[in-house]
Amino acid sequence: MLKIVVLISGTGSNLRALLDASADAAYPARVVAVGADREAPGLQHAEAYGIPSFTVPYGSYDSRAAWGDALLEQIRVWEPDLVVLSGLMRLVPPKVVDALAPNLINTHPAYLPEFPGAHGVRDAIRAGVDQTGASIIVVDNGVDQGPIIVQERVPVLPGDTEHELHERIKPVERRLLVQTVLDIANGLDLTALSTRLPASIKE
Ligand code: GRF
Repeated sequence: MLKIVVLISGTGSNLRALLDASADAAYPARVVAVGADREAPGLQHAEAYGIPSFTVPYGSYDSRAAWGDALLEQIRVWEPDLVVLSGLMRLVPPKVVDALAPNLINTHPAYLPEFPGAHGVRDAIRAGVDQTGASIIVVDNGVDQGPIIVQERVPVLPGDTEHELHERIKPVERRLLVQTVLDIANGLDLTALSTRLPASIKE
């Protein structure tokens, strides 16, 4: 059984999808704890499922590094096989990434490498594209630059607001995340993905 810690900042709909999936005895992964950098509304999903949660408030620490050390300490309590950044709106410090890699994955509401960063949905609308997407990646020390595990296109419709587009992307993110965790539990090799060379220097 794959043990997962999920880290959130927001409403936790991706977390909820994982919790719902792992309620099925046949699903080979379990969320063992949920962490947040604030009093995130999504922590209610952990509570609903009786899953332990922890909060490491970013503002309580002098530096990102100190926050990261406290976060890592909390994560390690649960001895997870995989950590999922599921709407955690903070950059995870390099020490934490290095300690968890490659078993650290992130969901992103765009078709990476298009529109990385905290405003992927807004940036897609501002760019005027007619399609964006959702991606699940292995986290490295770049901003949304790690190896792509899976991604899928989502159309941008004329007149879409950021909220409307995000609400169209999120069900895709949830489906890809649940499938990715299943694939990892079934042996998908994240190490091989992590060492993949960028396409530009492959030949
Ligand atoms: C997701 O779109 C995630 O990719 C982005 O923030 C959103 C979080 O949604 N970084 P939720 O908290 O899982 O509902």
